[in-house]
Amino acid sequence: MARARLTSALVLAGAALLAVLVLVAAAERQESSPGNDDLMKRQRHHPPVARGLSFDFYKRRCPRAESIVRDYVRDAVRKDAGIAAGLLRLHFHDCFVQGCDASVLLDGSATGPGEQQAPPNLTLRPSAFAAINDIRDRLERECRGAVVSCSDILALAARDSVAETGGPSYRVPLGRRDSPRFATQQDVLSGLPAPTSTVPSLLAVLRNINLDATDLVALSGGHTVGLAHCTSFDGRLFPRPDPTMNPSFLSKLKQTCPAKGTDARTVLDVRTPNAFDNKYYINLVKREGLFVSDQDLYTNAATRPIVERYARSQREFFDQFGVSMVKMGQIRVLTGDQGQVRRNCSARNPGTRVHEGLQWSSSLVQTVVEAAAERLGF
Ligand code: HEM
Ligand SMILES: *[C@@H]1O[C@H](CO)[C@@H](O)[C@H](O)[C@H]1NC(C)=O
Ligand SMILES: *[C@@H]1O[C@H](CO)[C@@H](O)[C@H](O)[C@H]1NC(C)=O
Repeated sequence: MARARLTSALVLAGAALLAVLVLVAAAERQESSPGNDDLMKRQRHHPPVARGLSFDFYKRRCPRAESIVRDYVRDAVRKDAGIAAGLLRLHFHDCFVQGCDASVLLDGSATGPGEQQAPPNLTLRPSAFAAINDIRDRLERECRGAVVSCSDILALAARDSVAETGGPSYRVPLGRRDSPRFATQQDVLSGLPAPTSTVPSLLAVLRNINLDATDLVALSGGHTVGLAHCTSFDGRLFPRPDPTMNPSFLSKLKQTCPAKGTDARTVLDVRTPNAFDNKYYINLVKREGLFVSDQDLYTNAATRPIVERYARSQREFFDQFGVSMVKMGQIRVLTGDQGQVRRNCSARNPGTRVHEGLQWSSSLVQTVVEAAAERLGF
């Protein structure tokens, strides 16, 4: 009797030990699998992947695609830290206008005014456009032909720009296709919020593309790197100073922008202009945000607690930034046999017929968005 009980106790203990060993082995296997680095393990939420995209999309046809982009971005950022800001912003502009379809890269000059000629193209850095084309050339040589889409290059280059300047890394679902047509100037104006926007209108724009208040605050953290022209914020200096702005920050800005319309630039993050960190949120708490669209995230009661959270915890900001970037990177993606893989990121493929009257923004894109939105649980 006692022996039987002892035996079953031993069997139970053995089974428990075995279970622990199996779990440990599984955890170790996961740790050693490629691409599953520390930062990814810290990413607590994983936004769903839109239908047609996958993490190993180029595994067979261009296995080194991601490392080629990463190496390029690393070298480029070493030579000019500003290119990281340029590449990050390019991906944001691409996704917010007509979806992440690389339409922002199309040179509109031959076929009429395109996105690049619309006013908010602002100051998309020419060096960032050139970098995308360089990366495209490398990938073309490495993988023999038009394999990796320009929209995927934009998403990867943005991710690597963040990582190379000290920010988080995150996995990017791949398989986007490029649109053969650029957005109209009107699409650009309605898709990209102005820096003079307050939280309610920012949220209204983001709601259209299924992004929420947390996404808004986290993504605005992209303003931890890069530059802005006086004209993007001098409405806060003249004719009267914006009362929500820290007075000593205001007088500093007036040195760079002594009169309305001055053609000069200043840093977006006054504390650590070239580092991807959470200082942007500390700036907001100290009322040293540059744009109305930045500072209002702290002024507004709905978004203020999120700003305070990221000001306290860089880690929480990094985690959410990765999540929100993956969401942003899947806005209205074209997949499967939609669109094309551009041979030259600046031009639609020769022979592509584009019916100018039949906008992409109609049925086709809509279907894709709905499919993606469904998977994302919006
Ligand atoms: C939420 C609404 C946003 C508004 C109103 C906005 C507005 C602007 C403006 C006006 C500039 C400066 C343009 C200039 O004067 O030269 C700028 C720069 C920049 N933005 Fe945003 N932005 C927004 C969201 C984002 C997002 C989501 C990201 C990326 C995640 C981003 C990344 C950047 C970067 C990196 C720069 C600096 C670019 C450079 O130095 O070349 N922005 N933004
Ligand atoms: C942006 O648009 C302006 C005119 O609004 C144009 O002069 C400039 O060349 C454009 N920038 C790019 C990079 O295309
Ligand atoms: C790519 O397209 C642009 C715009 O049409 C053109 O100016 C450029 O020369 C092309 N580049 C190559 C390598 O064909």
